[in-house]
Amino acid sequence: MSHIASANDLAAGQGGAPARSEPLPLEFPGIHHMDEEEIDAATRVLKARSPFRYYGIDLQGEVAAFEGEFAGFLGVPHAVAVSSGTGGLFVALASLGVGPGQEVIIPAYFWVSIASAVVSLGAIPVVADIDDTFCLDPDAVEKAMTPRTSGIVLVHMSGAPGNAPAIAAVARKRGLFLLEDCAQCAGGAIDGRKVGTFGDAAIFSFQMNKNMTAGEGGCFVTNDAALHRRAVASHDLGYARDENGRLLVDRPELMLWGMGYRLDELRAAVLRVQLRKLPAVTGAMRKSKYRIRAALREMGGVQLRRVLDESGDTGCFLITTYPDRARAVEVNARLRSEGIRTFEQGISNILMTDWGLHLYYNNASLVQRASRDRGGFPWNLAENAGSTARYDKGTCPYADSLFERSILLPIPSCLTPRDQDDIIRAFERSLRD
Ligand SMILES: Cc1ncc(COP(=O)(O)O)c(C=O)c1O
Repeated sequence: MSHIASANDLAAGQGGAPARSEPLPLEFPGIHHMDEEEIDAATRVLKARSPFRYYGIDLQGEVAAFEGEFAGFLGVPHAVAVSSGTGGLFVALASLGVGPGQEVIIPAYFWVSIASAVVSLGAIPVVADIDDTFCLDPDAVEKAMTPRTSGIVLVHMSGAPGNAPAIAAVARKRGLFLLEDCAQCAGGAIDGRKVGTFGDAAIFSFQMNKNMTAGEGGCFVTNDAALHRRAVASHDLGYARDENGRLLVDRPELMLWGMGYRLDELRAAVLRVQLRKLPAVTGAMRKSKYRIRAALREMGGVQLRRVLDESGDTGCFLITTYPDRARAVEVNARLRSEGIRTFEQGISNILMTDWGLHLYYNNASLVQRASRDRGGFPWNLAENAGSTARYDKGTCPYADSLFERSILLPIPSCLTPRDQDDIIRAFERSLRD
């Protein structure tokens, strides 16, 4: 007999037993797959007593090797490993020349670091609406442009790629830079082309919640050799280095300001192992997610996130959307009473309005135009005078509506067929009238 109960069994709210009696597994995808290989990699660096990338008593070259392997995985010529995704954003935007007098278009569904990097460099972020991919809407990007717009940050949110081909076409047509933020979508692709290869540059995060991780870490990638040189200098001390790690301070085009976001050898060694495991991790999440999505399609009464290329979805989140707020609240409560939640430390089955700093209007510093200094930087700068960007709820109506009506469920890579059955059964019961 199938583990999935017949459609007329009692829901938990009607006195029936919940679909699950124990929480869903608590998982941070890369962490779940850590084993002796990562231990050996870290030990190799420690035994050599050489944790710094540019020189040491027995330099292992782990960061350089990781950069080569990660660039090769994506199919780009250049990568600069950094100590966090946030650091990657600062390095990328600084290398792209972002500064006062410029506006940078960012999506309504994002992460706080993106706004932070733009504002910290003296520019003004402009939030543009998303579409049913939950990523930037190409039409909204066009509408958000002003004569000051210098570039676009496309964020591939919650594991699935945004419409990178369309956004790249808009950027090209208008002469703007395109930076892809792939922090939540490492290993994602559209029609076989990896995210991170569509724009002028891209960044990744290897913080613990991500598809591959060393606890912290990140990477900047680009096809552009000059941009690469600027990023190398920016992430370090502001200057180029020779092959022995010595600073070259006599290159006028590379006299920049360093930001101190270098990655260390220990984490690079771990990331080299995690990169090899990435396809298996995303493959497992994708398989579970698309089994659940296929079942949801049969049930009706629920709208699924539009995914441009299902085979390029990394699978780490399932987003479902309902006709109105009341129904989303009801289905979420029913799913929870059916036991669809995880341990307290994990991201659980949540209404998207509870998704914190991922929603533009929840960023108080942005809504209130908080300053980096005591003088009102960068909002008070003469170069930024007249910028009319706003950030309060109502600025991006389609995003607001999607956030109100949607539920986010993380999909662990370790879900068993039985766990999947439980989730499907819980949805079946929760979607009944
Ligand atoms: C979309 C996005 N961009 C950037 C970052 C920043 O990465 P990190 O935490 O490594 O600084 C994150 C991290 O959660 C993210 O989700």
